[in-house]
Amino acid sequence: MARAVFPGSFDPLHNGHLDAIRRASRLFDRLTVAVVNNPLKRSSLFSLEERLTILEEVLVGLEGVEADAFDGLLVEYLRRIGSQVIIKSLRGLSDLEAEVQMAHLNCHLAAEIETTFIVTAPRWSYLSSTRVKELASFGADVSGMVPEPSLRCLVGVFPET
Ligand code: PNS
Repeated sequence: MARAVFPGSFDPLHNGHLDAIRRASRLFDRLTVAVVNNPLKRSSLFSLEERLTILEEVLVGLEGVEADAFDGLLVEYLRRIGSQVIIKSLRGLSDLEAEVQMAHLNCHLAAEIETTFIVTAPRWSYLSSTRVKELASFGADVSGMVPEPSLRCLVGVFPET
């Protein structure tokens, strides 16, 4: 049974992530969307618990898709759960450099694990969690860019959005 992992910071999850997750889920029997608990990345706006809760709420009803969280190296997490496929999404060429670097690094650490890419749907190609947070902090309406649970968390921090 092919099981893939879609890892990310998801701080917070936006519609581009969600579209890529839905499309990736059609390619595998089982897809685990794994939110990283990265103690070095103290810049996360939302806690691990908040990011995981958003994922759990949004993924309800998506067959074969589940949310999880992981600590430490991504490839070690894949080994623990018995998966050999990492899926990342690419918005465009600007993402490619960093993503290929990560894929090479992961290949060096675990040659049996493959990284594959899903290209973001054109309608969401301009979205990033960083931009969504920036817009929300200035009171812009981001309701068309994120799913409801993400919006709720954003409104909690930026009531004007
Ligand atoms: O959503 P992001 O920020 O692009 O996700 C990055 C993520 C979580 C995939 C990456 O930071 C990661 O894999 N972190 C776990 C630590 C690790 O394995 N590092 C080595 C590979 S870069």
